[in-house]
Amino acid sequence: MFKWANWFNKDETEKDTLSPNGRVRCHFSLQSGQIFYAVFRDERPVVKKSRLGFLIYGEDPLKENLKVIREQSKKCDETFELPWGEDRFIKNHYSESAFYLSESKSPYRIFTLRFRVFNNGVAFRYEIPPQPKFRRITIKDELTEFNIDLNSTVWKIPAYKEDRYEYNYEKSSVYDLEKSVHTPLTIRTPNGYYLSIHEAALYDYGSATIKLNEAQILKTDITPLSDGTKAHLDLPFQTPWRLIMLADSAIELTTNRLIYALNDPPKHDFSWVETLKFIGIWWAMYVGEWTWAPGERHGATTAHAKEYIDAAVRLGISGLLIEGWNEGWQGNWLEEGVNNSFTVSTPDFDLDEVARYANARKIELVGHHETVGFVDNYEKQIETAYNYYAVNGVHYIKTGYANSMLFINGRREFHHSQLGVRHYQKTIELAAKKHICLDIHEPIKGTGIERTWPNLLSREGARGQEYEGGSLLPSHACYLPYTRLLSGGMDYTSGIFDLTNTAKRVYTTIARQLAYFVVIYSGMQMAADRPRSYEGANQRLFKFIQAVPTNFAKTIPLAGEIGEYYIVARKDRYSEDWYIGGVTDENSRKVHISLDFLDHNGSYNAEIYADAHDAHYEERPLSIDVKEKIVGKNDSFDIHMAPGGGFAIRLRRL
Ligand code: NOJ
Repeated sequence: MFKWANWFNKDETEKDTLSPNGRVRCHFSLQSGQIFYAVFRDERPVVKKSRLGFLIYGEDPLKENLKVIREQSKKCDETFELPWGEDRFIKNHYSESAFYLSESKSPYRIFTLRFRVFNNGVAFRYEIPPQPKFRRITIKDELTEFNIDLNSTVWKIPAYKEDRYEYNYEKSSVYDLEKSVHTPLTIRTPNGYYLSIHEAALYDYGSATIKLNEAQILKTDITPLSDGTKAHLDLPFQTPWRLIMLADSAIELTTNRLIYALNDPPKHDFSWVETLKFIGIWWAMYVGEWTWAPGERHGATTAHAKEYIDAAVRLGISGLLIEGWNEGWQGNWLEEGVNNSFTVSTPDFDLDEVARYANARKIELVGHHETVGFVDNYEKQIETAYNYYAVNGVHYIKTGYANSMLFINGRREFHHSQLGVRHYQKTIELAAKKHICLDIHEPIKGTGIERTWPNLLSREGARGQEYEGGSLLPSHACYLPYTRLLSGGMDYTSGIFDLTNTAKRVYTTIARQLAYFVVIYSGMQMAADRPRSYEGANQRLFKFIQAVPTNFAKTIPLAGEIGEYYIVARKDRYSEDWYIGGVTDENSRKVHISLDFLDHNGSYNAEIYADAHDAHYEERPLSIDVKEKIVGKNDSFDIHMAPGGGFAIRLRRL
């Protein structure tokens, strides 16, 4: 409700905004000209009074002498559809309050603070219009705080480290956050609520990391540019949404879809976008059979590509990734990739020929661009490179930025800085123009922009299976659903069946490799092992990978605890079939799964792929039980998960 009389010209005031169900209350206050917010759930504080505002170079801080000159409220209750993903329909149900603020003394700058209060979270952003002598600004610091109880537990990965987002998650106390950590930052409060601090709609701004300030309050630490500033902005500008997801349990948090609700619908036609499952000329390089660089064991040859295309046809998989096809992998490619070409193939690889062969067999090629973070080199070629693929009928590209920093305008920048964010966006928009879908490795974290740009089908942005060989703990995949995956799908490169290969020992059971296709959603889902691992005796297991969808109608988390285990059910977008996946840490677990979530009373044929009783991720990774039975809504399963194991179930409607 609009209340001029109360608000006008006041430098002391407060206002509550309630979520539609009344359980979440966001309290805005203006005290002595400064602005604050706090968040309550069931009238218990989850974020205590927290400061807002900015420090701006060459200007007074934008945080004091403020008054509210206007306030506007609105309500929204809509449901929108995503073309692909974990859930087809997303609810966008909130109460909004926008506070139009002005300084009460010169230079009388104005800006708006907009809050949206949902049943499962609170979001707010700053909107700064252009004004006389205030058109181009440089942010020194964003002061946004998240004053959570210091006795909360957090699950974190460090920011500003050389492996970007690729670290093992650690459970720790808020006191350990004196160094910045990435978002989504998952938190359990002492009163038992689950929160995740994240951001939505990150465009043209440094990404927010979080750290404790001197006052022992969590605060945004916007990723700096190499010039030491946080962001250069042309006004008008709106910051990304600062988002606090809220849930009563850890598993409820895993289906929080507010990042999509806070992004805009697409502005262009994306009806051409399709999710994809693919194999790749890839793992053979990881295990050392083939090489990325040309030579005797070169992987990306025309002959190998044709063999893999034939294999994809046999396996019933629609796509093939080809890495190492281009000039630039010779020598130490991580250091020397500065001149990589994205249009010139190696002499033993003929893209025209391979593309013709693939197109004739209806196999989609996934082209590969490893930029090694050399953005300047990539941007010089990007238009021609995307055109080159487009004219050859290549509709998917996996990009890579495997360096500890990006090289932009001759300087070293963080992947998650404003210039990094701007570059990734450029690739997405250019690819969209050419009807190309992207799977970005070493990306910027997900903030839901794939709602607006659905051609961004996947990204990496966490430790994936390539880290196997000791550095991936069995608990890693049990953290992801509660942390990294709150920011969207991930290309984890699942489906390794060759689990005893000492050249690259993958420490999971084989049933768990199937589980990943359900647990770790990706719009571009890779079956990452070599085709020969999927043929012969393993065909009976590969059947599951072949069937599992890459686009779901809905997702229901069934059970789990952060870092310990996770069980989830998903319904296919295009049939009445359901898929269930579960993973556990290094502890074996017996789980009881009731099928009462099924939305139909009929019968289903259940194909169950579970760890055998003697299975173990270290000693007997290949030990698996495969069973079939007819089940219905009133049935349940008792499943054994081995240490480092998991299970997958396909429920086919009869
Ligand atoms: C790192 C990526 O994660 C991986 O998938 C890729 O094969 C290598 N970079 C080389 O581009």
